[in-house]
Amino acid sequence: MRTVRDVKALRGVVAGWKAAGQSVGVVPTMGALHPGHLSLVSAARAGTDRVIATIFVNPMQFNNPEDLAKYPRTEERDAGMLAAAGVDLLFMPPPEVVYPEGFATSVRVSGLSAELEGMFRPGHFDGVATVVTKLFLMTAADRAFFGEKDWQQLQIVRRLARDLNIPVAITGCPTLREADGLAMSSRNTRLSAADRATAPALHRAMSAAGTVIRNGAPVAEALTRARQEVQRAGFGEVEYLELRGAEGLEPLQMLDRPARILAAAWLGGVRLIDNIDVTR
Ligand code: PAF
Repeated sequence: MRTVRDVKALRGVVAGWKAAGQSVGVVPTMGALHPGHLSLVSAARAGTDRVIATIFVNPMQFNNPEDLAKYPRTEERDAGMLAAAGVDLLFMPPPEVVYPEGFATSVRVSGLSAELEGMFRPGHFDGVATVVTKLFLMTAADRAFFGEKDWQQLQIVRRLARDLNIPVAITGCPTLREADGLAMSSRNTRLSAADRATAPALHRAMSAAGTVIRNGAPVAEALTRARQEVQRAGFGEVEYLELRGAEGLEPLQMLDRPARILAAAWLGGVRLIDNIDVTR
């Protein structure tokens, strides 16, 4: 695996691959890798001839400086994992390569970005959309692989690629879960042992709500019960736990189209998010 930190070198390698007729996949990450990320690399390896992984802790998508400072940075370990997983090129730019002096442009996917996460993390998705657009343009990848764990992010990335005619096909990959149902996330490492034992209650309550909604129970009641269960289990604030249209994220009162339950809740100072399919 080759590691490059500047755009010229990246473009040179990709141009060589493309001249040889090879397709290129990209797996964008912020590092602190776990098996969920490696499943994206496997999907990329299966679907494209060459695989780029990117590691960049994007300051523009952190609305809270403390969260940015606390974000785990484990570059050497991450690079080893990516090499072992068969990544061809690791693109790991310093901040000034991504945001040079005087940087003044941002990408906003309006509507979708204001919902759910957008209500609680203002500006977050503008940061994501801007950096993902830049990564697509810098890597010129034919395909890009994102986890369904960040479902809203996945919908936003699909929309921006379509709206801006970026010639990249977006593939969403299923959420990997621990044996007790907790969605894998870099943030899980920040949970205390006691909170780690409580954490699966979120997915458990969402799954139970999904089952009763599929069986015809009133949506509002099922969601209220799920929020109460999460709090009774020991979570702090449940920021949202809602049924939404799978693609447009519009609020749903009944299950009349492909849908997801999406949730965000606090546990011991760590903000966990999750989502599940509830399509009938
Ligand atoms: O999902 C993430 O890790 C980040 O939001 C992404 C897509 C790498 C953009 O910084």
